[in-house]
Parts: sequence; C-alpha cells; structure tokens
Amino acid sequence: VELAELNTLRVAAIARYYLEVRDAEELSEALAWAERQELRTLILGGGSNLVFYGDFDGLVVRMAMRGRRWEQASGQDATLVLGAGENWHEAVLYAAGAGYRGIENLALIPGTAGAAPVQNIGAYGVELRDTLVSVTALDRETGKVITLEREDCEFAYRDSLFKRTPGRYVIIEIRLRLSRSKPLQLGYRDLEEYLAGTSPSELTVTDVATAVMAIRRRKLPDPEMIPNAGSFFKNPVVPSADYENLLARYPDMVGYAQSSSVKLAAAWLIDQCGWKGFRNENVGVHNRQALVLINHSGGTGRDILELAAKIRASVQDKFGVELEMEPGIVS
Ligand code: EPU
Repeated sequence: VELAELNTLRVAAIARYYLEVRDAEELSEALAWAERQELRTLILGGGSNLVFYGDFDGLVVRMAMRGRRWEQASGQDATLVLGAGENWHEAVLYAAGAGYRGIENLALIPGTAGAAPVQNIGAYGVELRDTLVSVTALDRETGKVITLEREDCEFAYRDSLFKRTPGRYVIIEIRLRLSRSKPLQLGYRDLEEYLAGTSPSELTVTDVATAVMAIRRRKLPDPEMIPNAGSFFKNPVVPSADYENLLARYPDMVGYAQSSSVKLAAAWLIDQCGWKGFRNENVGVHNRQALVLINHSGGTGRDILELAAKIRASVQDKFGVELEMEPGIVS
C-alpha cells in the first residue's frame, strides 16, 4: 500500500501490509496477526508528525476508532470522550460549538485525538495536559486495556510517557475535562494582538477558536495545499546562564523564562541562520514560519532529513544550541 496520502509531508513509501481498525478488538487481532507473522507494526493516526525514511516492511495499522460522547456533566463542567481516530480539529469545533472551554486554543492542529497525548500537543499558551483527565490504551506488553490517569502520562513540553516508550501503548480513547465557565486563555502574544480592542468578557469560546484559526492560517501552511509536518523542531530549553550569554551577543533573541531555564524560539534561531524561505528542487523551509519544513514536489524522507540536518548544524555552529527533531522517523 502506498503511504504518500497517509502522511502530511506526502512522502512516498510502501507498506507491506495495511489495515484500518475501528475498535479495540480489531486492533488486538491485527497486532496478534502481525506477531504471528513476525512483522513489525506501525500505529498510524493522521500521519502529521512522522517522516518515512524508506518503505515499511511490516504492518501499518491505521487508527479509525470513531466516537464522541459526553460523560459526567455536572454544573458547568463535562467530560468529553473521544475515540482515537477522531479528527482533532473537528473535536475542538464540536466542543466549542457546545460552549465548552479548554481546547479552543488548539484549533487547527492536524492529526487525530489519539495522537494528541503522544506529544502533548500545545499552542497559544495551552497544552493538552491542561484538560486531559485520562487515556484508555492497549498495553502491548501485557495485552490488557488499561486506564492511565493524567499523572501516569508523564507529560512535559512536547513529551509524554507514550513518546518515550514507543510501541508500548496504543491509545484507544482520551478523556478531556472541559468547562463552560473557566477563563479563556488569551495571554499568548499573537492571540492578544489579534483580539486587541475586544473586551475579554465579550468573547465566546468560538471567538477564540476562530482567532486561533485565523492566526494559524496566516503563518502556517495548510498541509492539504503545501505538504508539511508542522513544527519540525522543538523549542530548545537552555539553562538561564547560557541564555544570558547568548542574549549579550544577540540582544533581539526570543526566549520564554521557565523556572531555572529559558525556552528559546527555534524558529528565531533558524531564521537568523538565513533558512526562512530556502528551497532546493524538492524541499524547503516555509517563508512565514522557519520551524516548518515543506515538501515542494516529490521530496523523499531522506531529502527532508538532509535539510533538517543542515539546519541543525548551522544553528549549532552559530548559537551552540542543539535542536531536537519533533516528528518521529520511520525507517
Ligand atoms: N519567529 C521568527 N521567525 C520565524 C517564525 C517565528 O523569528 O520564522 C519568532 C517569532 O517572532 C516569535 C517566536 O519566534 O517571537 C515564536 O514564534 P511563534 O509564536 O510562531 O511560535 P513558535 O514557538 O515558533 C510554537 C509551537 C507551534 C505553535 C506556536 C503557537 C513548538 C515547537 N511549536 O511555535 O506549534 O503553533 O508555538 O503556540 O513548540 C506545531 O507543533 O506544528 C506548531 C505549529
């Protein structure tokens, strides 16, 4: 099966076997079959955070578990339960349409609900961990379906237990605690600028989702039109002392203070190295957001990763800062 249409970078790759699973039972059967055949497996959601380095000589399992339901609605709060295969952005609009707050800043993030906890998706001052209550997952080590509470998921910036133990858990369902009354998160600079002039008390959850969508459309390429995998690198976190040294040399450098460290803007570092808008025959760097690599035409996973390696090397040379790749490499 050709995988180009199943990854947002539109990188061509062939899977030896491919199956879509609609519930936990089909998932277990597919995995058991692969084990008997001694085949490697790849669990695929929206394909928006991975790079195929070559063909995949195993079974690709596409998570197609649908389902949205409300649980434990009490007073102003309710729990939204999403099947792993639900489209994330549609779920955001669904929650906002019902007047529930908590995930509106995460509008337009590509991918599925089941993939959202893996990298703890985040944007405009909100992360998935802020609302996630629990995850139902198949533990492939024991073969049992288990519930992991938020604390069990070991969330961090763009990181989680699932990301650190690849292959062990397959997320089947996620639970989010949403509210009709909690404060809207309007503090991220782009959002604040966009909404300037409107009094926060007049804003609805849908206004915020709409604002986030407009900001993203302005800065980020739509993967349907221009194949990409979103941010290709994490924003690097450096000790405060390193930040001070860098700031002395580069007074315009962008950084967000953490407790004893500073998160640098990878986009700014890459931009300063002159990469924004760069392109060769196949691949390039987006001209409005230097963090996003683009497959212009027929680029392979190797082309993308070669470009990523050059970008990393130049940021390392100029700033002494190491960039960590965000998408997973499938080889
Ligand atoms: N900047 C540049 N050059 C650029 C782009 C940005 O100098 O080409 C500067 C901006 O001026 C700004 C700073 O870098 O001062 C940060 O830029 P931005 O606000 O666009 O956010 P980011 O840190 O680059 C992160 C996420 C995005 C998310 C935005 C908004 C990571 C790795 N990326 O980007 O996530 O949408 O914040 O919250 O944390 C994604 O994961 O695919 C993604 C788009």
